[in-house]
Amino acid sequence: MPLYHKLGKMPQKRHTQFKKEDGSLHYEQLFGTIGFDGMSSLMYHLHRPTQVKEVGKTLDIAPRAAVQYNIKSRLLKGLNILPEDDYLQSRKTILFNSDVHLTLAAPKKSMTAYFYKNTDADELLFVHQGTGTLKTLLGEIPFEYGDYLLIPRGMIYQMEFDTEDNRLLITESYHPIYTPKRYRNWFGQHLEHSPFCERDFKLPQNLRTHDEQGEFLIKVKKQGQLHHMVYATHPFDVVGWDGYNYPYGFSIHNFEPITGRVHQPPPVHQTFETAAFVVCSFCPRLYDYHPEAIPAPYNHSNIDSDEVLYYVDGDFMSRKGIDKGYISLHPAGIPHGPHPGTYEASIGKKGTEELAVMVDTFKPLQLTQTALDIDDGQYYQSWLE
Ligand SMILES: [Fe+2]
Repeated sequence: MPLYHKLGKMPQKRHTQFKKEDGSLHYEQLFGTIGFDGMSSLMYHLHRPTQVKEVGKTLDIAPRAAVQYNIKSRLLKGLNILPEDDYLQSRKTILFNSDVHLTLAAPKKSMTAYFYKNTDADELLFVHQGTGTLKTLLGEIPFEYGDYLLIPRGMIYQMEFDTEDNRLLITESYHPIYTPKRYRNWFGQHLEHSPFCERDFKLPQNLRTHDEQGEFLIKVKKQGQLHHMVYATHPFDVVGWDGYNYPYGFSIHNFEPITGRVHQPPPVHQTFETAAFVVCSFCPRLYDYHPEAIPAPYNHSNIDSDEVLYYVDGDFMSRKGIDKGYISLHPAGIPHGPHPGTYEASIGKKGTEELAVMVDTFKPLQLTQTALDIDDGQYYQSWLE
């Protein structure tokens, strides 16, 4: 996050003595990315953050390919993923490559018995259903329907849900996730043409410091394995921190769509970028206003990127038979476009209420068995007249 933020107490000068009331020292930790080159935060713990008591079992949670080489357009019924009590067990990866894993989750219970840390990937959670609080060692972020929650790799967190009716789309990125560079100036500030700006971000708040010793289970994801590590102190023992590396939220409802006289291409909807894929938000907006405009998109070949659309809400004007929570996959190598009749039917329409999240990956995606279990199987033929 190219925005300085701080919470709690810290010394005036970094790397200097910062004493507790009893005269003992706090424990400083630099939490950085990309070696010492990326964004970082400096945090101050009550206890050493290094006190590992035990390393327990390890689970292999790496996704397995049921279809490694895919050329079919697919339609996956995302809401057919069954709810499960536990947050981590509820996460079902459907599509993946070496850069990104796309995962659906319908967790019912809050995380209380353990903490979680993904050291492999940044996690971008999109909240389709549910409200609650993302609790991290750097503070809390309340979330609701339509929120993206960006959790940088290595951030220890817990999900607290208000009810059992939760639906998440989780994008795990093996490359750092940023807001698009072209939206930002040389200093990192979002420019006037950006569809969102700093005021729209939900920054961590309510830094709660836990001074507790005992046994604290942190499930650590590394190299596709889930290691069960027991620490001697509560991981949320930070009294203060500052810097640029922290989780934040952004509501899709705060994305200001860019429209034009004729059809605007997907990059105008871009919300996040990485070295290996982009994330776009398709939001309610006015349609093109050229008198001869065709609001539905033209047929297109993303010749070298797989396109995943997660349909959140509203009407999806260029598609037939699409419902909430459905996911279309239009693979690289073949063209796709509006369904028969929708191209013509879009003419003269003034606006759309569609809400969708798109992930375009630069490498082909593989499908897991879970994806095949919710695949309608017929979608690739749905353009036949
Ligand atoms: Fe497309």
